[in-house]
Amino acid sequence: MKTLIINGTVVSATGRSQADVLIDGETIAAVLAPGSVLLGHDLAASVDRVIDARGKYVIPGGIDAHTHMELPFGGTAASDTFETGTRAAAWGGTTSIIDFAVQRTGERVQDGLAAWHEKAAGECAVDYGFHQIIGGVDDASLAAMDTLVDEGITSFKLFMAYPGVFYSDDAQILKAMQKSAETGLLTMMHAENGPAIDVLAEQLAKQAKTSPYFHGVARAWQLEEEATHRAIMLGNLTGAPLYVVHVSAKQAVEQLAWARDDGQNVFGETCPQYLYLSLEDQLGAVSEEWGEFEGAKWVCSTPLRSKHEGHQHHMWQALRTNDIQMVSTDHCPFCMKGQKELGANDFRAIPNGIGSVEHRMDLMYQGVVTGQISLERWVELTSTTPARMFGLHGRKGVIQPGADGDVVIYDPNGRTTISAATHHMNMDHSAWEGFQIDGHVDTVISRGKVLVDDGAYLGRKGDGRYLKRGLSQYLI
Ligand code: URP
Ligand code: ZN
Ligand code: ZN
Repeated sequence: MKTLIINGTVVSATGRSQADVLIDGETIAAVLAPGSVLLGHDLAASVDRVIDARGKYVIPGGIDAHTHMELPFGGTAASDTFETGTRAAAWGGTTSIIDFAVQRTGERVQDGLAAWHEKAAGECAVDYGFHQIIGGVDDASLAAMDTLVDEGITSFKLFMAYPGVFYSDDAQILKAMQKSAETGLLTMMHAENGPAIDVLAEQLAKQAKTSPYFHGVARAWQLEEEATHRAIMLGNLTGAPLYVVHVSAKQAVEQLAWARDDGQNVFGETCPQYLYLSLEDQLGAVSEEWGEFEGAKWVCSTPLRSKHEGHQHHMWQALRTNDIQMVSTDHCPFCMKGQKELGANDFRAIPNGIGSVEHRMDLMYQGVVTGQISLERWVELTSTTPARMFGLHGRKGVIQPGADGDVVIYDPNGRTTISAATHHMNMDHSAWEGFQIDGHVDTVISRGKVLVDDGAYLGRKGDGRYLKRGLSQYLI
């Protein structure tokens, strides 16, 4: 199957140009000057399909490097399966995800990983890779980490939060980081001081402050800043490369910035919720159906931050200055009915997470429309850097000969309204209800196969393949 995309503006992390893109089978074969003439032949006449992208952007498929399909959490499990979540990703122009396989205290890393392969195999609409959560750092899990690179898993996540669930203490973090320095595995860190959060949360609950808003009060920015600093210093001591996930506090960004200026291999990711939504939005959210429990829709960790403290503004700025290098979703959806409502009487029991895998490309494009980031930076933050960061460069994140034929045709004159009534994620609500985007994902191609075209879904479950990843390109 040969596909030729003509008349579009091809956008990369470094520039834009009028060019035609030829996809042969699963691979990009050529990026050509407009006119589609190759060695004297009119290409358009010799391919199976021609897509006219006049007036539209032609970009590399999005890579969401932080998702949690079917994650067991808080007595329930994230509501998107690999099938539903990756199909929703495709609808939104994301053609690769990296999900988190889970190991907990007393479990074998190999078993956790095998379980994740079993959940995903044959189910996915788009290509998928894994990071490994090490929720129990001990001699066995440290030894097992030696084998991860061979499995194509070149990053692992530790938690400074969630005592009794995924939490690692400083001694465990130190040991795992020593392993990271030794193997080249990238240490991903959930940087919040969990024990301190639990004390504050308990004190709030005792004062009958149990509504969703108090989730964010307990998870104070000081505890994100402190944990980020501690992770940076442990990384400094051990030589481990560090990637801090879901950064929401401006003070945490400042920690990352000085560490980077100091020459450390330290990276940061933020998520659309920290760019658009605030603690005040959560406090003000009251509905007929849920009352003030409406705010549970936005319970996630790290939490939404106060608009008045300037976190959102600082985060957009950090995206421009490269103090933050990537935007992922931390897609971890839970329905209100039967899931979030487990915490109806106590915010501590609300499963943490927001579902956004379908909307990341659109939400970040809106940052282009409002002048927060450039078109090129949009592509860099959502596709090119994730590929480089997580060992997929050359295959993903670029439109160049030899790369996978993962291409999105984006219409800047289109319009998207986000709603639970129309989204494809397995959720009974949307954290983005009513959001308007001045752009639209028109066509989504994954390894040469058109998955989404003009509002129709043409893909099938099992189209996606496991991505064996290499080491991060930023560490070589
Ligand atoms: O609220 C969140 N972020 N849920 C998913 C688990 C995590 O910490 O990433
Ligand atoms: Zn986390
Ligand atoms: Zn997460």
